[in-house]
Formats: sequence, C-alpha cells, structure tokens
Amino acid sequence: MAETISDRKRSHLELCEAAEVEYAGKTTLLEDVDLVHNALPELAVDEIAVGTTLLGKPLRAPLLISGMTGGTEEATEINRGLARVAEAHGIGFGLGSQRAMHRTPALAHTFAVRDHAPTTLVLANLGLVQATALPSADVERLARAVGADAVCIHLNPAQEMIQANGDRDFRHGLATLARLVRDLPLPVIVKETGCGVSRGVGERLKHAGIGTVDVSGAGGTSWVKVETLRAGSRERELGEQFADWGIPTAATLLGLRGLGLDVIASGGIRTGLDVAKTIALGARAAGIALPVFRAYREGGVDAAAAYVERLVDGLRLAMVLTGSRDLEALGRTPVVLGGRLRHWLIGEGGA
Ligand SMILES: Cc1cc2nc3c(=O)[nH]c(=O)nc-3n(C[C@H](O)[C@H](O)[C@H](O)COP(=O)(O)O)c2cc1C
Repeated sequence: MAETISDRKRSHLELCEAAEVEYAGKTTLLEDVDLVHNALPELAVDEIAVGTTLLGKPLRAPLLISGMTGGTEEATEINRGLARVAEAHGIGFGLGSQRAMHRTPALAHTFAVRDHAPTTLVLANLGLVQATALPSADVERLARAVGADAVCIHLNPAQEMIQANGDRDFRHGLATLARLVRDLPLPVIVKETGCGVSRGVGERLKHAGIGTVDVSGAGGTSWVKVETLRAGSRERELGEQFADWGIPTAATLLGLRGLGLDVIASGGIRTGLDVAKTIALGARAAGIALPVFRAYREGGVDAAAAYVERLVDGLRLAMVLTGSRDLEALGRTPVVLGGRLRHWLIGEGGA
C-alpha cells in the first residue's frame, strides 16, 4: 500500500527522536564567530532586556520553536505541549506542514493550538510546491483555520530530491511567493528547512515582496539524512553523496546582511551563545527545532520549558559579557570571523 502523508510524518518523528539525523561533516560555522569580551560591562543582569517584536507581535525572548509537526494523533499532543511552552515563555511557535490538513480536512485538530497559546505568535506552514498548486484563498484558509499570525512557506528541494516520490518540479516558485504576498492579508515568511538561503535567493525574495526569511541553514537537522535513512538503494546512494549539502547557518546569515530583510536564524541553534551570535550577525530572532522536540519526548512540557530557559540564560550571559543592554546593542556588538566562514564570505556568489 502506498505511504500516506501521515505515515511519512510518523516515520520522520521516529527518526528525529532517536537516529543520527544531524550533519556530521558540516557545522553551522557559528564556532567561527567570536563575540568580543567586554571586561567592563557596566550593566546589572536585571537591566538586560531580551524582549523584541517579530511580525508585529512582542516576544519575551528572541526565540521561536520552529515548525515541526501535525497530521497524526501524536503530533496533536506535541503541537499542544510545545505551544504551551511557547505561551508560557512568550516565544513564537511554528506548526509543521499543513499539507496533510489540506488533503484531509478532518486532520485540522492535529494543528489546533490556539486554545493552548492564545497570545503566542503562531506560524502556519506549507511547502512552496504545494502552495504553487493552490489558489491563494486555499492557503489563506489553512492559515486562518489555525488562527495563525503569519504563514511560513517552506523550501526543501534537497529533501524532496532524496525522498522517494518527492517533488521533482520546482518551477514557478518565485512567482508563487509574489502572488501570495499580493493576495494574502497575512505576512508570508519564506523558510528553508536546513540548507540555508544564499544572498542571491535573498535578493530575489526581497524583490518578490517578502519581508521575513527564516534561513534554516546547514549544521543542525539534515533532511537529506532523514530521507536517506528511509530511502531505497538509488536515493540512498544520492543521499550519501549529498549528506553535507547546504549553506552553514552563520554563512547564510552573513550573506543576507544589508538586504533589508527581517531574518530568523535557524538550523543547528543549540545554545544561548549560539542565539547571541546569530543576533550579532543580524538576525532578529532564532528558531530551534530538534532539541526542543527531543527534550519534549524525554521529559514533556517541563523538559522543553527547561531547555528554553537555558537558552535564555546563555543569551543573557553573552549580553552581559559583551556589555549589551538590549538586543539592538547586541546586534551592533563587534564580531570576529574566522576559519571557513571567511571562505564563505569570499565565495558566496549568485545562486
Ligand atoms: C521532527 C521535525 C519535523 C519538521 N517538519 C517541518 C515541517 O513540516 N515544515 C518545515 O518548514 N520545517 C520542518 N522541520 C524543519 C525545522 O523547522 C528546521 O528548519 C530544521 O529542523 C533545522 O532546525 P534544527 O537544526 O534546530 O532542527 C522539521 C524539523 C524536525 C526536527
């Protein structure tokens, strides 16, 4: 029997919980970013302000739980639990792809988090290839049905190419995004899923009217790896060749600087120091997927909340030690770039 979207989602969660699904030979290159120590911070910890706004909504810390799931019964529980964590900590929350909900409207309840997160910044989610095939009104309906504040359109050509029966036609993507920006009354965020967004793509997105981009760079969860673990022999061989494909998160952030986009940093963000570095590289907020999911699986809402609190602690510490009273100041703090990241600065051209 053919695999359904729900079967695939179940297998993705299983692999992400326990298998080796992160990049092995490539990193975010955030280790090549140093923030400069300030031995005279002249700040009290209590006056450090980590709040910001994203898409017009206040966040108590510059964080969001990146879109992961929906479409199965276990996804219902995960979405609700993580949305409660987001609400309690005043951070954003992304839903996983709503493709299954479009196909089977009875699955809408698996994405329903508003009752658990009434004030949270909630992001709807759909793949660009699916959005290309749908009228704008259908995309709006999917977002409205979950009470979302904005809709993430995700880009995942690398994953699709390794997935048996994945999408193989990526034409008309930019035109679709321009159409959605024009037609939807909600903001449209463009989001990669672990391979990053080059400067050239950033320029094209900006030109299409996109204001917010979630880079989701390389160095964290690898969807090529996830699909390779599920693949038959032909795709497996390709997946092994392309296991390290993608633009490291630090490099994609540098590439988008100065384009006037609101940038969300994600892909391999694991600590509060990582979050601080991404803000210093120009991001407005950082998104985290895999570690929040794993913490939730291990210890439920409490463990996921404790992980978020550790992220905020690390961010605050970095702010004290760079003498940054707020995130704007952190965004202006000097950064020292080394190693391979400098090659990316020189090498990143069009794409
Ligand atoms: C279990 C799981 C499911 C995911 N499903 C989606 C999805 O449906 N839509 C999407 O845009 N991204 C999805 N992602 C990608 C994440 O949002 C994120 O971009 C990527 O995992 C990199 O972040 P990380 O290294 O913190 O995991 C998923 C990630 C995980 C771990």
